[in-house]
Amino acid sequence: MSGVKTDSPNATAGRLEGLLVEFDSPTALVAAAEQIRDAGYRRWDTHTPFPVHGIDEAMGIRPTRLPFIVFLLGFIGCIGGLVLQWWTNATGASDFPGLPTFLQGYNYLISGKPEFSLPANIPVIFETTVLLAAFAAVFGMLAMNNLPKHHTALFASERFRRVTTDRFFVYVDAADAKFDEGQTTSFLGGLGGSQPEAIHDIASSPSALPGGLKVSTLILISLLFIPPLVIARARVAKSNEPRIHIIQDMDNQERFKAQQAASAFFADGRASRPQPEGTVARGDLRFDTHYYEGKIGGEYATTYPEQVTINEQFIRRGQERFNVYCAPCHGLGGAGNGTVNATALRLETAGWIAPTSLHDQLARSRPLGHIYNSISNGIRSMPPYGDQISPTDRWAIVSYIRALQFSQQADLDDVPPEVRPELR
Ligand code: HEC
Repeated sequence: MSGVKTDSPNATAGRLEGLLVEFDSPTALVAAAEQIRDAGYRRWDTHTPFPVHGIDEAMGIRPTRLPFIVFLLGFIGCIGGLVLQWWTNATGASDFPGLPTFLQGYNYLISGKPEFSLPANIPVIFETTVLLAAFAAVFGMLAMNNLPKHHTALFASERFRRVTTDRFFVYVDAADAKFDEGQTTSFLGGLGGSQPEAIHDIASSPSALPGGLKVSTLILISLLFIPPLVIARARVAKSNEPRIHIIQDMDNQERFKAQQAASAFFADGRASRPQPEGTVARGDLRFDTHYYEGKIGGEYATTYPEQVTINEQFIRRGQERFNVYCAPCHGLGGAGNGTVNATALRLETAGWIAPTSLHDQLARSRPLGHIYNSISNGIRSMPPYGDQISPTDRWAIVSYIRALQFSQQADLDDVPPEVRPELR
């Protein structure tokens, strides 16, 4: 109230705004309110330092319509969210061909999922419902209460300042249809409160916003236009410049490209440094030639290394790896008839060397370590797979190849007794 420029507002010749009556207690206020209500006044209000029980009934205030507004907007949010998702996900250019492109949906199929699925849409529907309902509650409340209100003629009253401390007031607006200065004054005077105080409009009304606030609001509003303008420009302008890279991390730093740059730091000018003599890369110390190379004392091993245990699970792992890495060439059964081979034959690829059948005499006679070595380092025209398959998996593949070979050479005695009759 520091902005009010006058100390004795009643002396100021302004328009009569209304009449103010002061009461000492909430009880007196409620009693007075009932009488004003019954007298048929509509544009009036009570002002108290704390919520007074029963005052709304005494004033004849009807329950607020806000809940209905909140419900309505929430409902619109719910339906709107649903339609939005249906539109953007489940319709496309072909559904509404007449529409301009920027209004068309984009039915993008993701992993064969249905384009429209209610469960997936619930979170967004929930959010839009809550959002619109919350907006309706906050802005609806403000609008229905005529808020924000920077100024009221009541600020001019000296005694009204105690309204937030210990006084109770009734204020009848002069705009009320029943208002008549003389009559209303005497009516209010008989309600058991103070003498009615005439509230006048102050000539130099501070209801206008302070200049500084106006200017800063204007500046803020103009700033709001910057992002959409930048976006609009980006949509039409073409540029060969890379995007502005605000967070650099370590994206742009001095570096030597492999095999390309010369280093001024090292005497030999090489940027890629050779391994210092006598060193081993971490984890590359491989003394166990049986496990890592399939060799014992320089000879191909005929046994499995102690690191692996041959059981059904291990052989199945080998089968799975074999089907991934080897079957494309050697075929699922190892007969050398994989899809790569078939394709090469169909295309009559020049110089094609067919993958060996793993069932021929030579392949069967190879020691375990030899097959392991063929996988690790390749053999003749077969490429190496050591870099892609771990040593244990290579041994698993070896065990599976042995199982495949056995499957082609077994006789009836190798079959469990209970299935023998089927085969006879
Ligand atoms: C790109 C096709 C290709 C793939 C994949 C492939 N091989 Fe071969 N493999 C060949 C060819 C071709 C030969 C015959 C090479 C030759 O005779 O020059 C061969 C030969 C072999 C031999 C016989 C070597 C010998 O003892 O003479 C074995 C065993 C073998 N492959 C195992 C495998 C295993 C195990 C895998 C999976 C890890 C595999 N191959 C993956 C093409 C392939």
